[in-house]
Amino acid sequence: VLRVRALLPAAGQGTRMGSNGNKLLLQVRGKSILRYTVEAFDRSPNTDGIHVVVAPSEVDAVRHELFHRDWNKPLEMVNGGARRQDSVYAGLQQLPPCDFVIVHDAARPLVSEALIGEALRAAMQTGAATVALPMTDTCKEVSPDGMVRTTLDRRHLWAVQTPQVFRYDWLLEAHAQGAARALAVDDDAELVERMGHPVQVVAGDPRNLKITTPVDLLVMDAFLNAGPSPLQGEHFFPSPLKREGQGGEGWGRS
Ligand code: CTP
Ligand code: MG
Repeated sequence: VLRVRALLPAAGQGTRMGSNGNKLLLQVRGKSILRYTVEAFDRSPNTDGIHVVVAPSEVDAVRHELFHRDWNKPLEMVNGGARRQDSVYAGLQQLPPCDFVIVHDAARPLVSEALIGEALRAAMQTGAATVALPMTDTCKEVSPDGMVRTTLDRRHLWAVQTPQVFRYDWLLEAHAQGAARALAVDDDAELVERMGHPVQVVAGDPRNLKITTPVDLLVMDAFLNAGPSPLQGEHFFPSPLKREGQGGEGWGRS
């Protein structure tokens, strides 16, 4: 049987939110953002245990927020570090033995069971997978003085989300190398890519937004208002990725 653990980095400062204290403790409809995320993994049949990475100064606040109810599976807190990368590495080193680890930003509270399952299934085939959304805006490379350098080809550009799922041994080794070489990366997949491992992309879900600035709280509220169904599925958000025997759904230039 596969042993799968969820690692939820939650040790950030929420600077861009501009709220007092960690944005993950902000309440949306009477429930903290952190609790939405933990509940999603507690419901998921694809996870054996949940490990929340917390800043040492916030351990008490998080315990107060999460540990007053029973969960279906083991829930534990581990101490994070200064950067997200440090938090994930610290969390990884404290996981019990497992085959796959699902890394998911605690700041993405609307992740669905289906998306967690798809990411895990992809990683079981290739060893590593990340959820991502095709870019809808045109992307340009811009120099520091504000001048356009070049326009990128949107058809090859994806905005990366979490969950990202990895063979545990790959991710641990990739982080150890990252620390040894003092690399600075934004996501875990990059470290695994640099080891030469393949990373499979799984088409993401626009509901799975990262709560970063105050406007994201409005968007989250609107998604909750809309309910789970209307925004899910191929018809609302066609995937440009090839499925067996098919091409994509026409995400060329338009
Ligand atoms: N995170 C973490 N440890 C850090 C920094 C970030 O565990 N040292 C977590 C955050 O809590 C969040 C996720 O990584 O769940 C994604 O980070 P981000 O959205 O950037 O959150 P913050 O770093 O808290 O926000 P900001 O960058 O605006 O300060
Ligand atoms: Mg940050």
